[in-house]
Amino acid sequence: MTKKPPFIAGNWKMHMTISQAVALVLKVKDLIRGVGNVEIAIAPPFTALYHINYLLAESSIRLCGQDVFWEKNGAYTGAISPEMLKDVGCQYVIIGHSERRQYFNETDEIVNKKVLTSLKEGLKPILCVGESLEQREDGKTIQIVRRQVIEGLNNISPGQMQDVVIAYEPVWAIGTGRTAKPEQAEEVHNSIRELLYETFNLDSVKETRIIYGGSVKSNNIDSLMAQPNIDGALVGGASLSAEEFSRIVKFEKIQANGNRQ
Ligand code: 13P
Repeated sequence: MTKKPPFIAGNWKMHMTISQAVALVLKVKDLIRGVGNVEIAIAPPFTALYHINYLLAESSIRLCGQDVFWEKNGAYTGAISPEMLKDVGCQYVIIGHSERRQYFNETDEIVNKKVLTSLKEGLKPILCVGESLEQREDGKTIQIVRRQVIEGLNNISPGQMQDVVIAYEPVWAIGTGRTAKPEQAEEVHNSIRELLYETFNLDSVKETRIIYGGSVKSNNIDSLMAQPNIDGALVGGASLSAEEFSRIVKFEKIQANGNRQ
């Protein structure tokens, strides 16, 4: 089995008009030219996807939706289907981001429906999980994250697991400048990997990318990526700067030394 490269995705959230998005993506493309051994994705707002897809035609940067609806099509005003995302060039979609859970009342059940439909339609989900500060302080981190993973992946087949990316994003670290310590993140990532083994009984879950998100910057990416179970990053604020995002994707010795172990 070929080893999957690390995965670094930029989640632009609700930022960037079309012209701003075009300028940013052109800069990113330029700055990351020649970078290898890493899979890079960007998740612009829906309104900019069409233009950006054209700009990425000759690029290895993947396009990613920030959310998706769980039905294939129909009378669902305002919703975007997996087919529409694929049609506009997306290979990935972020599902269950804590901001969706918080502001749009998304439950694990809703998240699971989105994961299932996306997989069925050939879109790769980035399933986001993570505890609040209160839950961490109550010592419930592992329990909460495990439940979100189990429920988010409910009813998916072992074969579909190869298309899933899991993003551990502690809510208290998002947009706060407070990154989880690499060992804190590693503990959760390791527990997620163990859970995947228990659930799917598959050796290939070694290859499942479990990425970290929450105030990732160029000055902390190296120590995060040095952890054995951290396979990439979901970058928010720092992905809005072409220079900073390109520094992040060029992280550490991996680029110089080839694949990490
Ligand atoms: P920040 O990098 O801005 O903390 O956001 C993280 C995030 O939510 C990525 O999805």
